[in-house]
Formats: sequence, C-alpha cells, structure tokens
Amino acid sequence: MNTNKIPVIAIDGPSASGKGTVAQLVARKLGFHYLDSGALYRLVALKTMQLNTDTQNPIAVAEIAIHLNVFFKDEHIYLDDTIVTNAIRTEQCGIVASQLAAYPQVRAALTERQRAFRQLPGLVTDGRDMGSVIFPDAVLKIYLTASAEVRAQRRYKQLIEKGMNANIADLLQDIQKRDERDSSRSIAPLQQGVDAKLLDTTSLTISQAQDAVLSWYNDMLARTRV
Ligand code: CDP
Ligand code: CDP
Repeated sequence: MNTNKIPVIAIDGPSASGKGTVAQLVARKLGFHYLDSGALYRLVALKTMQLNTDTQNPIAVAEIAIHLNVFFKDEHIYLDDTIVTNAIRTEQCGIVASQLAAYPQVRAALTERQRAFRQLPGLVTDGRDMGSVIFPDAVLKIYLTASAEVRAQRRYKQLIEKGMNANIADLLQDIQKRDERDSSRSIAPLQQGVDAKLLDTTSLTISQAQDAVLSWYNDMLARTRV
C-alpha cells in the first residue's frame, strides 16, 4: 500500500505543552501507532554527551543521528540496549537536543527514521515540524500550546513525580530559552502552520484536550466520507 494513504495526526507545539501526553492518548484511543519525535532528538543529545562529541560539530552529530541504535518497546526507550526512558527527560538533555536540532544535517539524518513510523492503521506523532516538514500531508495538524508559566508548572510536577530534581524558576527560564531557539531557527522552526488548528491547553484538562483532538479527527472523517 502507498504509505501516503495512511492517516497521520500531527501535533506540534512548545515544550511541556502536553502534546506527548495527548498524542499518546489519542493514538491509544484510535489504535494508531505513536511517534515521539522529540525523543529522537533527545537520544542524539544523550549519545553526543556520552561520547563527549563536540556539540558544535554538525557533521559529527549527524553521524551519531544516522547510526543511532534505538528501540521503542511498550513504554520504554532503549539506546544501545540500555533503558534511557528517564535519562533523556532531563532539562539538560532537552537543552542540548534543541541546540543539535538546529543543524540541518541532524534533521536530515532523522527524517526517514521518523517517516518509517507511518504504518497501518495510522500514526499520531508529536514534535515541532511533524505537520510542516515530516508529514506535510497529515490529515489533521494541531498546534498544541499553553502559557509558559503553566508549562513550567506541568514540567515541574512531572519531574518531581519521577523523583528528579527541579526548580520552577529555572524550568521557566529553560522553557522560554528553548521556545526562543526552536522558533527562531532557520530550519523547521516551531510555529503554527496556516493549516494547523490551535489548541490552547492552558486551562484544559488532559481529557478535554484529548476530546478536542478526537472531535476534530471525527469531523474530518465525516467530511471526507460525504
Ligand atoms: O518534551 P519537550 O517538548 O520539552 O521536548 P521534546 O519534544 O522532547 O524535544 C526536545 C527538543 O528537540 C526540542 O526543544 C526541539 O529543539 C527538538 N525537536 C525538534 O527540533 N523537532 C522535533 N520534531 C521534535 C523535537
Ligand atoms: O510532550 P510535551 O513536552 O509537550 O508535554 P507532556 O510531557 O505531554 O506534558 C507535560 C506534563 O503536563 C505531563 O505531566 C502532563 O500530564 C501534564 N499535562 C497537564 O497537566 N494538563 C494538560 N492539559 C496537558 C498536560
């Protein structure tokens, strides 16, 4: 089957807006596959740090991205057979991921790896450029956001629950810096595409955000069946 016919729901947005949580719930509800594209950038960051590779060298970092030995199974992410599900969630990893993600060579190295997740019966994916670059023909594109303050609180709670150290003021600063870097880079910047629906979750529960996405998806299906 032509993979271009497999439906993709692309959810892009800034850090800690809730896009990953919502995308996973929607995928589960629809029985679709799920791709956390940010995890790939975080994995490249982790491996770069493990190898002490110069983060200023795009070619060396792209080599790491090309040969990344990663495996997603159930809730876990394996890098070279080691579980790194929590290790990639540190703010440090997020900051380095955002620096490396600005290199065109690194983005190119991850493009086909991401597209390979498009499998029947469908895919829900989240990131920064899922709707704009990786899956421009996605059937539903959403720009999911929330205020920076609410996002810092959400990230704080999430890290504390995982037993990790966190400080709200530092998190807010990191989030704002990352927003700025991700939105201002010349390649695949974070921005709401003209064809993406805005979902501001500042005062929405996870369940309300999930319902909004499902309702848009069902509307789209109803329209295309007519
Ligand atoms: O979970 P959070 O939103 O904080 O970050 P993430 O989605 O795990 O992504 C980490 C970093 O990877 C982001 O700050 C982006 O710079 C980069 N990224 C990207 O450039 N393109 C994507 N599709 C996904 C992530
Ligand atoms: O993937 P992204 O970085 O955008 O965010 P996430 O990891 O899905 O969500 C960050 C935290 O916010 C998680 O602990 C979610 O449970 C929480 N969240 C929330 O409290 N309310 C929402 N409407 C959405 C997410």
